[in-house]
Amino acid sequence: MKTYKIAVLPGDGTGPEVVGEGMKVLTAAESKFGFRTQRADYDLGGERYLKTGEILPESVLEELKGFNAIYLGAIGDPRVKPGILEKGILLRLRFMLDQYINLRPVVLYDKRFCPLVDKSEEDVDFVVVRENTEGLYCGTGGFSKKGTIDEVAVQESVNTYKGVERCVRYAFEYAKKRNKRKQLTLCGKTNVLTFAFDLWERVFYKVAKEYPDIKTDYAHVDATCMWMVKNPEWFDVIVTDNMFGDIITDLGAIIQGGMGIAAGANINPKGTSMFEPIGGSAPKYTGKNVINPLAAICALSMMLDTLGEEKAAKAVEDAVKKVVREKLESLSAGKMGYSTSEVGDLVVKNL
Ligand code: IPM
Ligand code: MN
Repeated sequence: MKTYKIAVLPGDGTGPEVVGEGMKVLTAAESKFGFRTQRADYDLGGERYLKTGEILPESVLEELKGFNAIYLGAIGDPRVKPGILEKGILLRLRFMLDQYINLRPVVLYDKRFCPLVDKSEEDVDFVVVRENTEGLYCGTGGFSKKGTIDEVAVQESVNTYKGVERCVRYAFEYAKKRNKRKQLTLCGKTNVLTFAFDLWERVFYKVAKEYPDIKTDYAHVDATCMWMVKNPEWFDVIVTDNMFGDIITDLGAIIQGGMGIAAGANINPKGTSMFEPIGGSAPKYTGKNVINPLAAICALSMMLDTLGEEKAAKAVEDAVKKVVREKLESLSAGKMGYSTSEVGDLVVKNL
């Protein structure tokens, strides 16, 4: 029987609760679809940092490279200064495991939960391919004269030919495999960021020549935000840089019903990929059994798909869709009509 090694990182806040539900669904999927997992838990996060000062030890990073996939809950603890855990754990994992794609589907399962007037399930169904290892996230730059009125803070966007090309290429391949509208939109800011997006644009149209059956399209990031609200049905696959991808996928999450349902995959096509709900640690809901676990369960579906268990992935997604449509009163924490664990049980029952 096929066996996959999975590293489980529950993390902070509501992370452990949603990861628990994901693991429940994984166990059910294993017996139904005939595969196995060996799971190892890692206690990375705010609690460990506050107790021991450790963020992401080198030895753990090395161990993680030996897994088939990483399943992550959430990183971020209000007791720790912003940036320490996010950069030290989440971003470090993305960078060091070279997970250069952040794949974020924007899909509406039930139009009752869409905040857009007159839009339904057919209209909100696209995927954002976010570059995940470069751009403004690199941490290049610095301060001078910090703490004085002459202070200067510079933060630079790093865009390499290699980094842009592999991301753009992944997006074209993805649009081809997805086979929906066969359209790829480059989201940038060529009218202002005339270095970074000049490179992106040149690479985009160069790679496009290898994909004559994929329609190409360009939109500035500000206009992309506007179209995502006004005409989300115009999008099929969007490719963009790290920062813009971060921003537009929060907007994407809300048009698909909220953070409770939005999932993402940090992908290294030749290495260890990491799967996570994109909503964060939601500290105020911690331990209350009210957080929506469906984003984490959707991330599980993406993990199964990436591992090659496509049937199980599809079944999990279908079960989520059914629970959303037939059971839930809302996708928001505390308003679902069910507790966190009950929603997990409903997904298992529908699998
Ligand atoms: C995300 C998050 C992270 C990001 C934060 C927590 C560092 O917002 O996954 O979108 O900015 O990438
Ligand atoms: Mn984000």
